[in-house]
Amino acid sequence: MKEAGVHAGLAVIIVGDDPASRVYVNNKKKMCADIGILSEEYALPAETTQEELLNLVRTLNDKKDIHGILVQLPLPKHIDEKTVLNTIVPEKDVDAFHPVNVGKIMIGDFDFLPCTPAGIMELIAESGIDLEGKNCVVVGRSNIVGKPMAMLLLHKNATVTICHSKTRNLKEICKTADVLVAAVGRAQMITDEYVKEGAVVIDVGMNRLENKKLVGDVDFDSVAPHTSAITPVPGGVGPMTIVTLMKNTVTAAKKANNM
Ligand code: GUN
Repeated sequence: MKEAGVHAGLAVIIVGDDPASRVYVNNKKKMCADIGILSEEYALPAETTQEELLNLVRTLNDKKDIHGILVQLPLPKHIDEKTVLNTIVPEKDVDAFHPVNVGKIMIGDFDFLPCTPAGIMELIAESGIDLEGKNCVVVGRSNIVGKPMAMLLLHKNATVTICHSKTRNLKEICKTADVLVAAVGRAQMITDEYVKEGAVVIDVGMNRLENKKLVGDVDFDSVAPHTSAITPVPGGVGPMTIVTLMKNTVTAAKKANNM
């Protein structure tokens, strides 16, 4: 791309001072720098109005050297997330949160990969795990992880179950999983009682304990001995999310330059 004079560019917008978001944004900028993607950070105060944020997004939509726009979530309560995400042009929506891109993922014909689920699919593929016909259980139904995760597993011909806060017999359902994906947001809630012997366990959680220790949704120490493969927190899924973001930014830059 350099030889063709194309330099991929990513704009990252962060509103307010959520400490976890700050860490995520710094990690994203760092990987951009490591691999030669231009990154621009727009750090806005928590009092920013929705209209001000929308105006920034519209400006970036038109900016030629920016190929990807990422608005770090969550946004302050007075800003409507959906309105903001829908304002990013789908061609620059490297998080794949715009309804057009979400719809494309549903159909299986997509340009941008959903970042965390696609990172997980890469971990699974690189580990030589075949998903065809496997029982995959996804705990969590968020638009960012749970729902697109289920869709990508389905595209690989897995049998997929989505569980959530109203699911009955959660333990029993999790115990049927050949591949268990925990994306709940509750520290260490998945203990060995939820896991079948030899299962693959993917931990999407990022929770801080009172003693500041960063842990996942899986109780790693009790679960790990029973698995054939498991991802740690930190260092498992998190970095893969950013890898996918980088891929999407490169894809966007190529498309914008007819490459
Ligand atoms: N907040 C938590 N995860 C994500 C993500 O993947 N993208 C954005 N933009 N915000 C997030």
